[in-house]
Amino acid sequence: IQVIVPAHPLIKHWISVLRNEQTPSSIFKNAMAELGRLLVYEASRDWLPTITGEVQTPVGVATAEFIDPSDPVMIIPILRAGLALAEHASTILPATRTYHLGMRRDETTLQPSAYLNKLPDKFPEGSRVIVMDPMLATGGTIVAAIDLLKDRGVESKQVKVISAVAAPPALEKLSKKFPGLHVYAGMVDPVLNEKGFIVPGLGDAGDRSFG
Ligand code: PRP
Repeated sequence: IQVIVPAHPLIKHWISVLRNEQTPSSIFKNAMAELGRLLVYEASRDWLPTITGEVQTPVGVATAEFIDPSDPVMIIPILRAGLALAEHASTILPATRTYHLGMRRDETTLQPSAYLNKLPDKFPEGSRVIVMDPMLATGGTIVAAIDLLKDRGVESKQVKVISAVAAPPALEKLSKKFPGLHVYAGMVDPVLNEKGFIVPGLGDAGDRSFG
């Protein structure tokens, strides 16, 4: 896999706001949405299908290049926390389809299970897919999500994962299972604690966004 941590001061800014335990929920959610917007921008560079043509401006004719509306990017927010991260994905990208996936991590066993699955039975061939989840901790959740995509015809090289903070156990699991996958993270943190939280991380992103 390729792990990309874009070096941008705005990304560092929003990560720092998210990390701060004093940040209230309303600002936390906004910071998560802004981080998501920036990471989608980075992840979509050189990756979007375009169509070319001409447009009439008020004073002449110009060559034009638009995002191809017939080939939308598939956005998969992993509930709950992924909803905050994915908030602007469908406005920064001109053509998207969003499919929600609800995953819960058992607090003792840390095993993930899906409680909501709005994925289509089959994705169109060659679909570009962005999976959005703020935290990649043990990696159980993201691995289960990408397995569900594979069952529906999506290969890992078609997938970009966007997260706020990723930890080494998750990145190791992903690199063993999914060749060609791209991971865009705001930050990579060194360790997990005994409860499976990323340290220093940003706490429980779902609770901090939605209470
Ligand atoms: C958190 C987080 C990820 C998952 C990461 O979700 O948003 O989905 O845990 O952990 P893992 O890599 O060890 O699987 P949580 O289960 O707390 O659900 P929530 O977003 O609804 O709060």
